[in-house]
Amino acid sequence: VGFPLAPGATIGILGGGQLGRMLALAAARLGFDVAILTPEPDDPALRVAAHRIVSPYEDHEALVKLAELSDVITYEFENVPVLAAEMLIAHGAAVAPKAEALAVAQDRLVEKSFLNAAGAATVGFHPVHDVADLKQALADLGGRVLLKTRRGGYDGKGQTWVEGIDDAEAAFARLDGRSSIAEAPADFVRELAVIAARGRDGAIACYPLTQSWHQDGILRRTVSPAPDSDGLAPRARAMAEHVLNALGYVGVLGLELFETRDGTLLANEFAPRVHNTGHWTADACAVDQFEQHIRAVAGWPLGPTEPLAPAEMINLIGADVDAWADLAADPAARVWLYGKDEARAGRKMGHVTRLSVG
Ligand SMILES: Nc1ncnc2c1ncn2[C@@H]1O[C@H](COP(=O)(O)OP(=O)(O)O)[C@@H](O)[C@H]1O
Ligand SMILES: [Mg+2]
Repeated sequence: VGFPLAPGATIGILGGGQLGRMLALAAARLGFDVAILTPEPDDPALRVAAHRIVSPYEDHEALVKLAELSDVITYEFENVPVLAAEMLIAHGAAVAPKAEALAVAQDRLVEKSFLNAAGAATVGFHPVHDVADLKQALADLGGRVLLKTRRGGYDGKGQTWVEGIDDAEAAFARLDGRSSIAEAPADFVRELAVIAARGRDGAIACYPLTQSWHQDGILRRTVSPAPDSDGLAPRARAMAEHVLNALGYVGVLGLELFETRDGTLLANEFAPRVHNTGHWTADACAVDQFEQHIRAVAGWPLGPTEPLAPAEMINLIGADVDAWADLAADPAARVWLYGKDEARAGRKMGHVTRLSVG
């Protein structure tokens, strides 16, 4: 196939969560169909997709089917096995972003090393394979560290604070002795994120900085543009550009940042996909992060990123979603529901955006 893809083409997506659902809606707006491959039969994106493949990610037959249906294939989930992306590429499929972006983002140690090499400063960190490593990390990083499993963590899962040498053994056991990374505490005054896109032609577009608040490791609220961030925005943008260019990236990427007490920006992690801190763009920007991602992978020009209004986004987590009727009655609330049937604690069920106008 040639790029730009013409309307009528099919975008394949690995993963079937709410991000895939919102990508599918954006794709539909531009005249594309989507094909979703997910192992979960009840996933939200399946309900809005033209083509549905329910199968393990590494099933060869399922990947061949996806490759044959799709003109380009992307991800909505960063823990898709890299092997699945490689199998698609081996089959001749166009995959964006590259499998390498997945591989880097899937391993916190590789990711932090990559960020540093790309010119994005991070907290100090130390690989941890055993309790002795952890004790060394505590000694090197100031006596208190955040221990995170290298792989598989999300929404604050797979992390534990280690308060000192006396806690080292128990802390390592709390993460089941898994290969981990010990991080120095980020002395942050606030958390920020930047949503950035790179097109097939190498053009880069960034949305304004977003300020984010987490609770129990889960994103709770964002405000965009982040207040008083004019001075920080160019530095955040430069960091995002370094990361995008170093990966030869095509698509949207979310870069999580800490602003420290002395005004330094530290990179925390990046997601090789659309990101929860960019959901506000769907209500506040002419081209939102979902459409931007579809544009990028389809080889279309990137769209404008200037917000039409400042926005606050609040996640509906677990039972929060029970308030849907009240939210629907609030004319200021833009309600997004993901169509998940079970409102389990800690599960992202939807979100609400409010624009501040005038
Ligand atoms: N080194 C750190 N120091 C202090 N807080 C941290 C550090 N790393 C992460 N956090 C806090 O934990 C949250 C989740 O950690 P993160 O590394 O982003 O993992 P996840 O993949 O679960 O989002 C962050 O948004 C931040 O609030
Ligand atoms: Mg995070």
